[in-house]
Amino acid sequence: TIREQCRELVFSDSQCREIMKRLLNDCNRGLAKQTHKDAIVKCFVTYVQDLPNGTEKGKFLALDLGGTNFRVLLIELSENHFEMRSKIFAIPQHIMLGSGEQLFDHIADCMAKFMKEEKVVNETLPLGFTFSFPLTQLGLTKGHLERWTKGFNCSGVVGNDVVKLLEDAIARRGDIKIDITAILNDTTGTLMSCAWKNNNCRVGLIVGTGSNACYVEKQKNCELFDDIDNGSGQVLINTEWGAFGDDGSLDFVRSDYDREVDRLSINPGKQIHEKMISGMYMGELVRLALERFTKEGLLFGGKGSELLYTRGRFYTKYVSEIESDPPGTYANCKEVLEELHIKHATEQDFVNVRYVCECISRRAAHLVSCGVATLLNKMDDPHVTVGIDGSVYRYHPHFHNLMMEKIGELVKPNIRFDLMLSEDGSGRGAALVAAVACRKRR
Ligand code: BG6
Ligand code: GLC
Repeated sequence: TIREQCRELVFSDSQCREIMKRLLNDCNRGLAKQTHKDAIVKCFVTYVQDLPNGTEKGKFLALDLGGTNFRVLLIELSENHFEMRSKIFAIPQHIMLGSGEQLFDHIADCMAKFMKEEKVVNETLPLGFTFSFPLTQLGLTKGHLERWTKGFNCSGVVGNDVVKLLEDAIARRGDIKIDITAILNDTTGTLMSCAWKNNNCRVGLIVGTGSNACYVEKQKNCELFDDIDNGSGQVLINTEWGAFGDDGSLDFVRSDYDREVDRLSINPGKQIHEKMISGMYMGELVRLALERFTKEGLLFGGKGSELLYTRGRFYTKYVSEIESDPPGTYANCKEVLEELHIKHATEQDFVNVRYVCECISRRAAHLVSCGVATLLNKMDDPHVTVGIDGSVYRYHPHFHNLMMEKIGELVKPNIRFDLMLSEDGSGRGAALVAAVACRKRR
């Protein structure tokens, strides 16, 4: 039966604990000087050292690249208050897979358009750049791209300083001036954004197109940073845990669906953990399972549809929609199947399709929970708030509850935690980082 076939998607307590053990070990390898270079989970130093304190002021630009939407923002911060205007621009597929020069020209072009609309072309504003990909940072305004992830693969960028590439593109145009004061990851932006309101916030988590987390580490645990004295004794670490499993350490819990998703991706063998969790892949995992069960005669009387058998056609938002049906009802499920041209589904098919969705999304929530619990146990602070953003966490009807429950089981009994949805995206976080940087520079 389908339930039996889905059993491999349900992780036992001991599997969760094994995952945590391996992740902790990999994080420690990333943090140590000796092993960082070959580490799978890199634990990059972010050079963001001070969390915002609510007194940040000024007018800032921000760029937010790497999630569902590319945004340009204008943010005005004043004591405990902010105003934000933003515009979403598209990044066409041919640019996502084109040359780096094309990508950064496009970004600069969108920025110039926005600045003209907002009538700030004649000002030189500080800019915070949320760039949600793995960077080796050499400072707050210098970061070399380690690898592309998610749907991007622009040539000539890996190994180069992304800030410089953007500055060059701006200089090529000559019509706008910008002072890039910080480059940061979306996890960092989320953490900063949440920390502005909540000073227990010490973890930033994304469960969106990709998945990743950053957290506040003690400087003494981070050898790569030991030459820099920032007084606070703390450093913000971008784990880049999406790469966890790239050396096979998650093979003991991967399924055929995971291997197939990876095989057909633009980055085979890379971002294995991310591919089991995030929105870019979740729908496809479900589709592969549904396709198999249909072909085995366990669903829809053995008769699928061309769309059901087409890669990428089962969107991740379907998972959220199907699981939003109240228990015992299947209105959304029916609608999704009709969109896929399956009109002959029975009530039992609805039950089964929903069950497959639940198994895949639950597994994602449990994997994320293993990750969060690993960080919380490692930090060992009595009370930590986790700031979270991303489409999967935001729109899936049960993700939050699944995480609360699982983290509660896995975390040390002396640790209290809560999960806080970030309201304003990483853009405001970028402005906050830029603001803190400006304050320090003066
Ligand atoms: C948003 C950020 O809040 O969350 C994005 O502003 C980030 O930069 C995103 O990447 C993650 O969500 P998604 O679902 O858009 O990938
Ligand atoms: C990918 C990126 C990472 C980002 C995450 C969430 O894993 O490599 O930098 O934080 O997606 O957007």
